[in-house]
Amino acid sequence: MRHDVQVRLIEQLCAHLDAGTTVDAGGLRRMPTDSYVDPALAERERREFFRAVPQCMGLSRDLPEPGSFLTNDDLGLPILATRDVDGVFRAFVNACRHRGAKVELAERGNARRFTCPFHSWVYDGTGELVGVPRPDHFGDVDRSCHGLRPLLAEERHGLLFVHPDPDATLEPGRRLLDHLLGTWFDEEFPTWHFERMQPLTRDAYDTACNWKLAMDTFGETYHFSSLHKNTLFNGFHGNVQLHDEQDHLHRMILCKRNIDTMRHLPEEQWDITVAALPVYWIFPNTIVMPFDAGVFLVRAYPNPSDPARHLSRIDFYVKPDLDGLNPAVEEFLSDIAHNFAEIIRDEDYVMGASQQAAASAGALDHVVFGRNEPTLHHYHDTYRRWLGLDPLPWIDERDTAAAR
Ligand code: FES
Ligand SMILES: [Fe+2]
Repeated sequence: MRHDVQVRLIEQLCAHLDAGTTVDAGGLRRMPTDSYVDPALAERERREFFRAVPQCMGLSRDLPEPGSFLTNDDLGLPILATRDVDGVFRAFVNACRHRGAKVELAERGNARRFTCPFHSWVYDGTGELVGVPRPDHFGDVDRSCHGLRPLLAEERHGLLFVHPDPDATLEPGRRLLDHLLGTWFDEEFPTWHFERMQPLTRDAYDTACNWKLAMDTFGETYHFSSLHKNTLFNGFHGNVQLHDEQDHLHRMILCKRNIDTMRHLPEEQWDITVAALPVYWIFPNTIVMPFDAGVFLVRAYPNPSDPARHLSRIDFYVKPDLDGLNPAVEEFLSDIAHNFAEIIRDEDYVMGASQQAAASAGALDHVVFGRNEPTLHHYHDTYRRWLGLDPLPWIDERDTAAAR
């Protein structure tokens, strides 16, 4: 993030702190709870988001060198992502062209060749079929058209994205992430140098709540002084945040208590990752949070058969100058990252499961998003717009007061 932008945002946070205010969405919204329950909607999400929108596979250094690979089964489509011998990021359907078995079972590793465990057909890192055992028995198969099915893939600003539809195409002159990142994130992300950050910790939680309830927990700081009063609230000012949006993009700035000392330093020394926590949302299910030691990547995936369950992945990547050299620092940072993930599991997602119980029981037909929760307004409005649904309705606050 450009330093002048950092200064402006820190000044905005200080103004809120001094005035006892926070961001204001301008009103209250009514959020229908069937969004967390409805199987037909869940099916549309899977089809229109999780099979039709580029999906984040990680950061560049998840594939650190030629021959690196990773597999991903989170989207209902088995994916094999590779960095080929020329360093090019590629992705394929992880399904053998003989009879469809997964050619690679490991989560990650390094391989120049992928040998299907079933009958040992062999593919190279570009997906080409390079070996068929006993062709004299099997018959003549045209190798040139039996390579692994390629998926559109793009590595940009240190992020790895794959389009999870093998039939997807790109308009001429367009690249995969042009729309998803927009001009805003496309300009701001390079300043974080995600491409240099190394994977350090990975946590995954299967939780009894809809994937959007998981996303929602990241969408406001109103709850910090309550739910996180013994954890995150020690490091953050609760209920003080910024929200900026553009089309489907938005960025939150959460306010850390370090701002109280930083604001007295010369502006040249201000650092947004010390005074605050930037939170970028990449629609529909990915959150990127750069902070002073590295970056958190959070992804939420719907359960394929139960709208009331989801899988969250919380990965932490560390800046290279802090990693590897000193085991004590590495252990210290690993502990911080695991602790952060455990707070999400033990505090936020416990709330998510309890919200889900009410929604699944049909106990509440709607919940309420407040003025200080604009990210939730924007996120769900975006979600609804992409599915062709009406925006969330506004609530007349006097009616709310009367209803009490
Ligand atoms: S299914 Fe892969 S070699 Fe037969
Ligand atoms: Fe939280």
